[in-house]
Amino acid sequence: MIRFTFHSLCGTIASTMIDNTITREEAQHFYDRLGVRHDLAEWYEGQAKVHALELLDLHPGQRVLNVGVGTGKEHIHIQDAITPGGRAIGLDLSPVMLDLTRARTGAQLCKADACALPFVASSFDRLFSSYLIDLIPLADIPALLADFRRVLKPGGRMALVSLTEGVDLPSRTVVAMWKTAYALRPSACGGCRPLQLAALVCQAGFCQISRHVVVQMGFPSEVVVATR
Ligand SMILES: C[S@@+](CC[C@H](N)C(=O)[O-])C[C@H]1O[C@@H](n2cnc3c(N)ncnc32)[C@H](O)[C@@H]1O
Repeated sequence: MIRFTFHSLCGTIASTMIDNTITREEAQHFYDRLGVRHDLAEWYEGQAKVHALELLDLHPGQRVLNVGVGTGKEHIHIQDAITPGGRAIGLDLSPVMLDLTRARTGAQLCKADACALPFVASSFDRLFSSYLIDLIPLADIPALLADFRRVLKPGGRMALVSLTEGVDLPSRTVVAMWKTAYALRPSACGGCRPLQLAALVCQAGFCQISRHVVVQMGFPSEVVVATR
């Protein structure tokens, strides 16, 4: 694993980000069909998520929201870290993903759109979301981040993981190939395209923002951690 740390996070929003992605219906259909095979992505995504969970600073008794919970791999870790007394809720659009997480964790789950969180303000101490915002149209991301901030308690912490731009020759090459495939058929990439989220997180009113890029097998992932 190679890890890069970045400073000056609240600059201009990268103009190179791809605006559109697959629709909610296409996303649900894709992840319903993919099911447990999604776990194969761990060989290039796993280390970034481990890093994000370390930075999330989980403790027993906390309430945690995991947005785009997928097959539940990270949810097991979150549940363990907040036991005893904590509560972790997993949210996803895909009934198949929710069934997989339920079978793995027995957790409380919620079928909903990440862009319309069905929770009252200040409900959670922590919010985790990995490779979900990559699937959200650029125009919807400011409102989504505002909603993430709304459901966090003051002082609550959020960790986001997403595909990002390359930071060295191997990762730039991988991203160039990924973008070519994405331009031909976004669904071939699961709707995920590279993002650079730190400036948007800053604009949404979060503070204490850190940004790291973790490169695993040439695949670059951005880990953005921020506080409400
Ligand atoms: C790339 S997978 C990531 C899953 C998991 N977080 C991980 O890192 O392995 C994206 C997940 O987000 C869900 N998803 C996609 N769009 C969504 C939306 N608008 N609202 C809620 N979940 C969504 C998909 O069903 C899928 O489970």
